[in-house]
Amino acid sequence: MRIDIISVVPDLLQSPFSHSILKRAKERGLLEVNVINLRDFSTSKQKQVDDYQYGGGAGMVMMCEPISNCIEHLKKQRSYDEIIYMTPDGEVMNQKMMNTLSLKNSFIILCGHYKGIDERIRQLYITKEISIGDYVLSGGELAAAVFTDAIGRLLPGVLNDETSALTDSFQDNLLSPPVYTRPENFKDLIVPDVLLSGHEKKINDWRHEQALERTKTRRPDLLNEE
Ligand code: ADE
Repeated sequence: MRIDIISVVPDLLQSPFSHSILKRAKERGLLEVNVINLRDFSTSKQKQVDDYQYGGGAGMVMMCEPISNCIEHLKKQRSYDEIIYMTPDGEVMNQKMMNTLSLKNSFIILCGHYKGIDERIRQLYITKEISIGDYVLSGGELAAAVFTDAIGRLLPGVLNDETSALTDSFQDNLLSPPVYTRPENFKDLIVPDVLLSGHEKKINDWRHEQALERTKTRRPDLLNEE
């Protein structure tokens, strides 16, 4: 999978993909993440990428030309499955969306800033608009990092234990059950007996019950989802 991220603050995206699971995905050649500085596509001397909004009002708007130049440049080199704009008014990201998108091969992600991007870029280029939640970030970069992490770990061969993404919270619309490691007794809190029983079916049943119970109390909305 290849993800090209267009940003006005590319330095923000240096660290998130250089550690742990995403680092491994890159090293194994399963994921390629490329961060592009939008200012490199500005035609003005000052490398301007934003301008005042028509109609007045506070806040700048990201201009059409640098974004258009950048996307056209990228599209000349390869085709993309989706051109995604990270925005709080997009479709709210969830595990099902990530599962579906993890089957695709290539994305451009455009990170918004200021008051957002000129509407015509959305009309002309953007194929999908994604929000990571009902709150406003100061830019789309952290949202792009969240998206890349959530999708990267689903790619076959990225996680060592192939089943572990399937047992994550939200797969099957259930939250994960509680987990324990050594010691058996910590400050008088004891690991449930069943987990020490070695009885695989009983352990699986217990985990399923716990997952169901946790979902009922914390996120009953998930149980009504398809
Ligand atoms: N940019 C600013 N806020 C955002 C959000 N909640 N999701 C995605 N992109 C954003």
